[in-house]
Amino acid sequence: MTAVELKSGIYWVGAVDWDLRNFHGYSTNRGTTYNAYLIMDEKTVLVDTVKRPFFDEMLEKIRELTDPSKIDIVVANHVEMDHSGSLPEVLALAPRAELVCSPQGERGLARHFKELRRFKAVRTGESIRIGRRSLVFHQMPMVHWPDSMATYIPEEALLLPNDAFGQHIASAARFDNCIEWGILREEAAKYYANIVLPYSEQVRNVLGALRGLKIDMIGPSHGVIWRSRLREILAEYEKWSSQRTDARAVIVYDTMWGSTEKIARALQKGLEESGAPVALRCLRSCHISDVMTDVLESRLVLVGSPTLNSGPMPTVAAFLSYMRGLRPAGRLGMAFGSCGWGGQGAGEVETVMKALGWELPEPAINVRWVPGPEELASAREAGRRLGARLKETA
Ligand SMILES: Cc1cc2nc3c(=O)[nH]c(=O)nc-3n(C[C@H](O)[C@H](O)[C@H](O)COP(=O)(O)O)c2cc1C
Repeated sequence: MTAVELKSGIYWVGAVDWDLRNFHGYSTNRGTTYNAYLIMDEKTVLVDTVKRPFFDEMLEKIRELTDPSKIDIVVANHVEMDHSGSLPEVLALAPRAELVCSPQGERGLARHFKELRRFKAVRTGESIRIGRRSLVFHQMPMVHWPDSMATYIPEEALLLPNDAFGQHIASAARFDNCIEWGILREEAAKYYANIVLPYSEQVRNVLGALRGLKIDMIGPSHGVIWRSRLREILAEYEKWSSQRTDARAVIVYDTMWGSTEKIARALQKGLEESGAPVALRCLRSCHISDVMTDVLESRLVLVGSPTLNSGPMPTVAAFLSYMRGLRPAGRLGMAFGSCGWGGQGAGEVETVMKALGWELPEPAINVRWVPGPEELASAREAGRRLGARLKETA
């Protein structure tokens, strides 16, 4: 794959990682890209780099366009190594280049790459003239690390916001109009649910700041470049960051001998009878990062677990710990499960839902051993009532 011109004199010089299927625990079923951008003006600027194993791929693309030693400025919008990993190699080839990052970025990069010394730390609103164009920097603290920042090129209405607006998609296409919106939206939602969600408050601040800028292209650091679907992706970020959800339910559970599953299916029936769309996700077959994508847009989240050794099943415990960290807010919740004696599994589910500040309209269902017809009928009724409650919130 060669460099791709985004605007006159501005190129994508990143790399496509076709094989990646797991990115720190997030299932990346479509692979990913590491996007880096080369801006050719009076000064030559490289914005971000790629994960270290992909350095040669990036270098090949830069060489198509210029001699790397001519790079004057390298902008590191984010410290994380999928973007900063090739900085030492780039700077070794571009000895006169200045390394521009946020103040937090300077501290983080210095800890990651002890050989890097020449930093220029910039704050929000600072700009650097590079000829016909300028680079304007916007801090985006905690979207999604303390150091994160965006580089904006006003003369081109181009925003390079690093991990914001990303999607994990490996493809030959570089632009959003080349990929079906359904796929793009799903991957952008999954990215938001698993990476950005805990920082929704900060995203709202960033969206507020962006409102004043003219933007006709957004080049994130993963996935395709937004130019045809800008209105759509900005609207989705507005929705996700305000924790606005749809009137639908997701039932997440695991089971050893089928009792918790029976309750899950009774709840599902009741919800369906009330007209609520329901997704059923067993944690043995569904990856937690996919389940989080359901949680992102579902107003009602039901989580079930049997009790195993005085707690939930490890699959459910892992999901609860993951979800707690991602902090979905404003949901309706319900805990359920089956147990033999102590019954702490469903209790721990409820503890997490309460810690997240969710409303729990129904008490937890915790059935001893195997649920009988009456218990299943009452779970089904609870499902119906929850469905009715969901309608009220629509
Ligand atoms: C290895 C193992 C450990 C268990 N530990 C507990 C426990 O600590 N407390 C409890 O109440 N029940 C415990 N149980 C009983 C299960 O919670 C009970 O069998 C339940 O009905 C299983 O639900 P399921 O069919 O959804 O897997 C344990 C069961 C197994 C197989």
